[in-house]
Amino acid sequence: MSLNLDARQRAMLEEMHVPVWWPESVVAAAAAPVPAPEPTATPVRNAPRSIAEAMADAPELVAARAASPLVSPALLAATPLVVPTGAVASMDWATLQQAVAGCVACTLSNHRKNTVFGVGPAAPADGGPPQADWLIVGEAPGENEDLQGEPFVGQAGKLLDNMLKAIGVSRHGSEDGQPHKAACIVNVLKCRPPGNRNPGVDEVAQCAPYLRRQVELLQPKVIIAMGRFAVQSLLAETVPDVQATPLGRLRGQVHQYHGVPVVVTHHPAYLLRSLPEKAKAWVDPCLAMDVWKKRTAAQVAVQAELG
Ligand code: URA
Repeated sequence: MSLNLDARQRAMLEEMHVPVWWPESVVAAAAAPVPAPEPTATPVRNAPRSIAEAMADAPELVAARAASPLVSPALLAATPLVVPTGAVASMDWATLQQAVAGCVACTLSNHRKNTVFGVGPAAPADGGPPQADWLIVGEAPGENEDLQGEPFVGQAGKLLDNMLKAIGVSRHGSEDGQPHKAACIVNVLKCRPPGNRNPGVDEVAQCAPYLRRQVELLQPKVIIAMGRFAVQSLLAETVPDVQATPLGRLRGQVHQYHGVPVVVTHHPAYLLRSLPEKAKAWVDPCLAMDVWKKRTAAQVAVQAELG
């Protein structure tokens, strides 16, 4: 790891309990106030509305709903996928967002206040995806995320933001007035499981086409998969028996999800509970940054070649 760290990165390492030494001048610089207005990231928020209203915006799901008028666990077991994968696969970002907002493919839709599509730089008005080289994938919205319609707004989100900030990445595209590399943050599930229980297999299956389309549209240079549900969802096709493979064994390597490199790390909520793991987890964003640098360098070389 480079020791050419700025004050913020050092603060981050301290928070992660990675011991570092630095001279008084750096401490003084770190203590100096840096009052700069932060641009706000753009959560894809959905005002609470009825399922009927939401479905009016998502004709594909209305059709799917008509074919399967009851969403119950028994029906889900009998009906492999309510989310029409073919339709989702051709949606642009704006349409995908609407489809998620109106989704009633599983029983989670009965309990949610908001769907949580993701957060990141503002998407362009033409319906295209936001510009973000980084995609961070978590598990599912919790209570606060459900209320606010934005992923990772609690303590785990604070740790995640600090970890990203330490490597110059941000959901806002900048921090404290300094430009950062932009990240989109999304979850495997777009709706909160009641009581913050684990996602069900059927729920993950219904939501998978949305996540896949988000990746296809964003074309990030690197994905960070946080925690076992993100890892199992993203690596199901490339890691044999991923369900039974301990997450620790998948860290430190670069995996693939539909042509995009994936780096595995612990879920920040777990890191909040485990100080030793929190210190060790620092290598994961560093590995992701190596991947990003290599892909960026390769892209620059290709562009130079093409003139
Ligand atoms: N945990 C997650 O996995 N996602 C969130 O959005 C919040 C907490």
